[in-house]
Amino acid sequence: MAAPPPVSFRPSYRPPGAANRMHKALIGAPAGKPARPGEIRLGSAHEGGNAGACQMINRVRLYSGLVLFAFLATHLVNHALGIVSLQAMDGGREIFLFVWRSWAGTAVLLTATMAHVATGLASIYRRRTWRGITAAEVVQYITALAIPPLLVLHILANRGLHELHGLEDTYSWVLMGLWQLDPFEGLKQAALTIIAWIHGCLGVHMWLRLKPRYRPCAPALYTAALMVLVLGLAGFVSGGQEVSLRAQDPVWLQAYTQRTALPAEAAAWVYETRDATWTAMIAFIGLLGAARGAHYLWERRRNLVTIRYPDNRRAIVEPGVTVLEASRRAGIAHASVCGGRGRCSTCRIRVLEGWEKLPPPEDAERRVLRRIGAPEGVRLACQLRPEADLRVIPLVAEPAEVRDAYGRNGYAQGAERRIAILFADLRDFTRFAEGRLPYDVVFVINQYCRYMGRAVEANGGRLDKFIGDGVMALFGIESGPEDGARRALAAARDISVALDRMNQALADDLGQPMRIGIGVHVGDVIVGEMGYRDTVSLTAIGDAVNTASRLEAANKEFGSQLVLSAETAATAGLDMSGRTRRQVAIPGRDRTVDAFVLNSAADLPESGGGTKS
Ligand code: FES
Repeated sequence: MAAPPPVSFRPSYRPPGAANRMHKALIGAPAGKPARPGEIRLGSAHEGGNAGACQMINRVRLYSGLVLFAFLATHLVNHALGIVSLQAMDGGREIFLFVWRSWAGTAVLLTATMAHVATGLASIYRRRTWRGITAAEVVQYITALAIPPLLVLHILANRGLHELHGLEDTYSWVLMGLWQLDPFEGLKQAALTIIAWIHGCLGVHMWLRLKPRYRPCAPALYTAALMVLVLGLAGFVSGGQEVSLRAQDPVWLQAYTQRTALPAEAAAWVYETRDATWTAMIAFIGLLGAARGAHYLWERRRNLVTIRYPDNRRAIVEPGVTVLEASRRAGIAHASVCGGRGRCSTCRIRVLEGWEKLPPPEDAERRVLRRIGAPEGVRLACQLRPEADLRVIPLVAEPAEVRDAYGRNGYAQGAERRIAILFADLRDFTRFAEGRLPYDVVFVINQYCRYMGRAVEANGGRLDKFIGDGVMALFGIESGPEDGARRALAAARDISVALDRMNQALADDLGQPMRIGIGVHVGDVIVGEMGYRDTVSLTAIGDAVNTASRLEAANKEFGSQLVLSAETAATAGLDMSGRTRRQVAIPGRDRTVDAFVLNSAADLPESGGGTKS
């Protein structure tokens, strides 16, 4: 396989004047240009900017989100104590405030809030296309935008009045306001809780879903998340009902009123500040939208890049747009399990033309490519921002699944390997099956597959496929041809022994002993995961596979049990002197294959045995 030409670094565009400053502030330094120390550069799958900085921004968004999620979770647990009593709620509140209203807790919470809002807005701003957005992302964005306007009043009326007027914002005070004085606001705060919890849980899910151990834990985590929300809301309702009951007691009501008396201007301050905050939010979002529009128009004036895909499809985009985003814009299906965060590798592409003008991978992309053992010429579409024309092939078919994302060996996506291939096939099985009940035939086949499968796996082989009464197995994909050859021959010997055992165990069912033919060859193949949906499996293709199959078939001509190529014996370091040597013709090839013929694979010299795994 020809390696692509070495990549070269090419400095990219430099937008002029004010556009340059705005670009640096919101998008980051131009793609392909190293950031200066302290300079922030953003960018992600559907977003402009620098991939490494983009990873950092995503990380900040994740960690700040986790802090806010912890705050909300503890808040809900505190609410849930309302199921017990109002007193229990306020008891829990003491602990809650001890953590979150301490100076350290406040600093962490404030920093996390600002970081999360800033990185979230940056993410929206940097997004260059809404095509291909997933349902989960839509929910994330909508809930994210709904939280701040609903949250403002809650913060002002609790923390704000506490700090400014020394108000003890106990649960009695809050629930009195939300259940007795303004029930509609109570409904809005309940809705805020649900929205924020959905946003948080979805964020955690998006973060964890690529972790191998997440899937088995997901149902338990989902149940726990639901329980926390339901119990929190139940506590809120229960506490509200208790406050409503107490409010019917004039003595309690009078004491409450005295305890929570606030200056007349306090309430006005809360509502005026809320309205001012809303206005500021709307103005800020409007400004951001206008800036994004202007930035888009400026980008369109630059030289466009053409990305060509198979089937004559193409995407024409501005320089700096990721290949994944270009695919989305052009309506070309492109896998991206992690949503373009550079974590899953499912967006990977092979670059066929235009290598020489591509910026080299950033650290984050390089790490992912190394993790999956990607061969040269493969890049992550969500991290690659071409500045010049190129031609690519997406390597993972859409719809991709999480299993496409992690835990896969590099060769799973296609690699050339020199390995040992073993074929085994029962002799005269068709004749055996004739006149027998289908159940008996299936039973014997399953027993055979079990014996063969164990023999292959015990020697570290990879069962490629069972085809009726035939089996194909691969050895040495990871450990190399020498080890593979030794293991394949050890498996052949074990298969022979296993067949004898099976013949003894099923003597009454079989009538006469089953016979088998085995062929082993070492050669160059292409290995990779091939197939469609549930039928995808690791397999090998190539001339060596056909040769191994032909050697297996040659047993019929020689009346033998094992035919192994001389190449296999030499690779395994096996001394075959004195053994029968034959030439096996391979259909479609001029030359023959030099091979050894054995009446029983169990007769193989011991030195051919590989290490049992
Ligand atoms: S979409 Fe590119 S790495 Fe996940």
